[in-house]
Amino acid sequence: MNVLVIQSSPNDDGLTAACAAAAVEGVREAGGIAEEIRLNTLDVGMCQACNRGWGTCQSEHTCQVADDFQALHARICHADALILVTPVYWGEMSESAKALTDRLRRCEATRGEGSCLAGKPVIAVAAAGGSGNGTITCLLSMERWIQHVRARVWDLLPVNRWSRPYKLTAIRAAARALVAEGA
Ligand SMILES: Cc1cc2nc3c(=O)[nH]c(=O)nc-3n(C[C@H](O)[C@H](O)[C@H](O)COP(=O)(O)O)c2cc1C
Repeated sequence: MNVLVIQSSPNDDGLTAACAAAAVEGVREAGGIAEEIRLNTLDVGMCQACNRGWGTCQSEHTCQVADDFQALHARICHADALILVTPVYWGEMSESAKALTDRLRRCEATRGEGSCLAGKPVIAVAAAGGSGNGTITCLLSMERWIQHVRARVWDLLPVNRWSRPYKLTAIRAAARALVAEGA
């Protein structure tokens, strides 16, 4: 099973990175192939709401804003499962995660049951390293996104600075179980 772990923090040594590393370990422990993507090192800009609202996302299920999105879109479609790990900013996903998921949703939700993510399991992790507030609102929008692209919620995991030790263990276990189920 090929699992794409997408982390969307600008920090490569923070809580989000630790959660992503735990997910990668879990996938590999179960015999899966894990690829980690640090979204903030890519050029994936925000949706431009082309042509007064809908561009080729609606008509061709591709995004006409040329940047690193197109290659990443193909990798995501090729994967068997996704693990999305975002820092919590203002109770929401980080800006880079929002930019990716917004554009992906336009391209894939418009395919309906033909979405390249249809039925694929997704684990969403919300890492709140400040007050610890906002994990639930963040996960709520991630859950809605998973539903819009017709994927399947495998697990939704909130993490804060205090829960970090046992949540890293839980993320690893969730990733292992995801691979075991798909094997
Ligand atoms: C713009 C911004 C907004 C944030 N909002 C929240 C928040 O709502 N709740 C929270 O607990 N932490 C918040 N934080 C703190 C981040 O969640 C914290 O830095 C987190 O650990 C980021 O993960 P990282 O260490 O992997 O970068 C915010 C940080 C930034 C930069």
